[in-house]
Amino acid sequence: MTAHYEVRGRVAVITLDNPPVNGLGLATRAAAAAGVERAENDPAVTAVVLTGAGKAFSGGADIKEFGSPKALAEPNLLSLIGVVENCSKPVVAAIHSVCMGGGLELALGCHYRVAAPGAKIALPEVKLGLLPGAGGTQRLPRALGVEPALNMIVSGEPVESQLLAQVPGQKLFDRIVEGDLMDGALKFAEEVSEKRPLPKVRDLKARHPDAQAYFQFARNMVRGMSKNFPAPLRCLEAVAGAVTMKFEDGLRAEREGFAALMMTPESKALRHAFFAERAASKIADVPEDTPLRDIKKVGVIGAGTMGGGISMNFLNAGLPVTILETKQEALDRGVATIRKNYEAQVKKGKLKEDKYAQRMALLSTTLSYDDLKDCDLIIEAVFEEIGVKEAVFKQLDAIAKPGAILASNTSTLDVDKIASFTARPQDVVGMHFFSPANVMKLLEVVRGKATAKDVLSTVMAIGKKIRKTAVVSGVCDGFIGNRMIEQYSRQAGFLLDEGCSPQQVDKAVEKFGFAMGPFRMGDLAGNDIGWAIRKRRYVEKPHMKYSASADRLCELGRYGQKTGAGWYDYQPGKRDAIPSPVVAEMLAKHREAIGAKTRDISDEEIVHRLVFALVNEAAHLLEEGIAQRASDVDMVYLTGYGFPLWRGGPMCYADTVGLFNVVQAMKRFAKNPMDDAAFWTPAPLLARLVAEGKSFT
Ligand code: NAI
Repeated sequence: MTAHYEVRGRVAVITLDNPPVNGLGLATRAAAAAGVERAENDPAVTAVVLTGAGKAFSGGADIKEFGSPKALAEPNLLSLIGVVENCSKPVVAAIHSVCMGGGLELALGCHYRVAAPGAKIALPEVKLGLLPGAGGTQRLPRALGVEPALNMIVSGEPVESQLLAQVPGQKLFDRIVEGDLMDGALKFAEEVSEKRPLPKVRDLKARHPDAQAYFQFARNMVRGMSKNFPAPLRCLEAVAGAVTMKFEDGLRAEREGFAALMMTPESKALRHAFFAERAASKIADVPEDTPLRDIKKVGVIGAGTMGGGISMNFLNAGLPVTILETKQEALDRGVATIRKNYEAQVKKGKLKEDKYAQRMALLSTTLSYDDLKDCDLIIEAVFEEIGVKEAVFKQLDAIAKPGAILASNTSTLDVDKIASFTARPQDVVGMHFFSPANVMKLLEVVRGKATAKDVLSTVMAIGKKIRKTAVVSGVCDGFIGNRMIEQYSRQAGFLLDEGCSPQQVDKAVEKFGFAMGPFRMGDLAGNDIGWAIRKRRYVEKPHMKYSASADRLCELGRYGQKTGAGWYDYQPGKRDAIPSPVVAEMLAKHREAIGAKTRDISDEEIVHRLVFALVNEAAHLLEEGIAQRASDVDMVYLTGYGFPLWRGGPMCYADTVGLFNVVQAMKRFAKNPMDDAAFWTPAPLLARLVAEGKSFT
């Protein structure tokens, strides 16, 4: 499947056909170029229509060819655009559904463009840390106008065709075709078939009445909004080139900008995250065509912090939800919180009143399990106690219809054990949402020993439907994310023992790019949660070393924001973290009690101890088969733990530093008597990769 050629009347129709979105892979480019040549040489043909089959005009580059020599092989995209632009007969792009990236650049090379309303038009390259490299930064400002083009190129966001057609003076679309696009395009092609000279976007002038002042203003805006990403500013400079340079020079500058961005770690990280997200949805031993179970109605047990947020995800996706609780008051509280969340969205203009009403109309509540009988998916979010879970799953087993998926949102308990409370362990799975569950993108799908393949594929699909990034994890304490974060937290504790203040650690980690350092995070989540886990660990794993500083903090009742004090002080009703003299004194006493040897610690050491702790634990997870692939670990940290996107996740970052260097640093950390030397023994996988000179990703 590449591109088809047919002649309708006197018009040749070239249809890009490379499912799913007519990506411009080598074979498609070659077939399209051959089609134009054939039309050129056919005396019966007076005009050409270029369009796309199925669900898109073209989504741009073929991601299957990304980074391979095929992506650049002739005819490359620039050559194809040249063939189209130089055709002596008018070429009309007939645009519908999706026209993005290279697809839009190709359309801009055509002499005319007609579009169906509602087509999504974008140059999204900036989202991969790049700029449009096939003339997009030069032709779009000429066709659409400098300001709207700059907005599209710097944001990468799609705009619908009919809106762009309303831009005053625009030459992007010659006509918006209501009704059948092909009929409209053929008619238009007939109309223009004899017109000469052929219009070329490159011949237009990109003008702005006050270009210098405008670009200076835009530069300041873009710089402020894209601190850690070089691409938006380079996009801007390329567009500025469309105003100040001749077309050919602007094109050359664009290509240089593209090549430079391609080499940046930020673009590498963004491209890594793009592919990691796609890879995460695949499960090695679950075929992609595994039939899915039908999910039409969802039950949620527990209307607390998590149950409410989980329910909102399904309501937002148009699925009816029934929430079950043990008491009416708990239900009322839960529903009131959901209402409050939606009302806040309405107030901010993010949700329309009628949508809010529609969503609430999908919600029902109950105190009786009987009302969950017709649910296809039931998610439990009750107290984190195995006895409570046992009671709930036994009830569910008694009433749920055959084939219903029974999911637990447990964050620490054994999903296999939970499955064993039922006579249908194959239908049981973990769906570990992150708080706030209606906001956070991450969903860990916990695969039990017995979980059926179609349950897994259905839960992955439903994750996509509710717009989560679903990542599969095996069963273990903490699954992928929390098992890793425990090692990170342990290091944060040791750093305090060695003389760091909480604010010093947080600052270093936030400067690295994390949304929040470990101590501000602890105050937000509640320090009592970690305390409860440590108390369990002291019994289960007495050999594991922890700093007792966090225990001393909790003994003071400083659980975090909810108690008005934690690692920091908080003013009533405010969330600003204020360094606390009480904590400083507590830490000084604690250090004295343990006979700590303190020293000055650099920001780099702080960050590397925390991040490499994540990396070493993740290497164990990979070896144990808990995580399927290193890029899954990165997705967990990018979408659930605030890891800086431009660093691509902990594993991608470790690869950037070089695994040899990571292990060297770990050896240094192991020599520190205040640390846990045993932990820093490189995980076997990590050691093996270093020995073989390989990387994680
Ligand atoms: P929560 O205490 O806010 O809510 C639990 C709700 O379950 C309460 O409303 C309670 O009335 C209800 N409940 C208790 N026993 C019940 C029963 N037998 N039948 C029906 N309802 C019952 O707790 P939260 O934070 O929502 O946690 C729920 C689950 O989600 C736990 O397993 C927890 O580990 C997990 N989780 C929590 C996260 C968090 O950040 N809070 C993050 C991820 C998972």
